[in-house]
Amino acid sequence: MRKWSRIVLSVNGADHSIETERSTPLLFILRNDCSLNGPKYGCGYGECGACTVIIDGLAARSCVVPVSLAEGRTILTLEGLAKGDQLSPIQQCFVEAQAAQCGYCLNGMIMTAKALLDRNPTPSDDEIKNELRFNLCRCGTHVEILNAVKLAAGCSSNANKGRT
Ligand code: FES
Repeated sequence: MRKWSRIVLSVNGADHSIETERSTPLLFILRNDCSLNGPKYGCGYGECGACTVIIDGLAARSCVVPVSLAEGRTILTLEGLAKGDQLSPIQQCFVEAQAAQCGYCLNGMIMTAKALLDRNPTPSDDEIKNELRFNLCRCGTHVEILNAVKLAAGCSSNANKGRT
């Protein structure tokens, strides 16, 4: 028998009250109940990174996070970065570096890079590569993605910490 619970999630600064099974993946709740489609379903096994969100400042794969573990935490999704029509600096850097082909991996790339830059505003090339090594891109846009994160690191090193 299914056991349902009411769970309140704090996502992008807003509370969402949802009735669900506690083991439901956070990704499903974000997409189906919160209408936040930035996080993508790729593998469903925590392997590809397409579903990445930031939970309490850390990049997390929402396909393998039970929603019950996200309760009481601060969740940031791709939709929480831009202010209205104004892209966040890291999103703008991805545009400027033309770091997209199909775009399916971009949510994970951007959110993983943001979590990195928020804690380390001036990462080395190796640190960026290491952070993104488990985010898969099948189009082969890795060079442009690396350039985008380096551009964003330039912004954040100019006293813009926290504005990525
Ligand atoms: Fe979550 Fe692939 S869909 S890591």
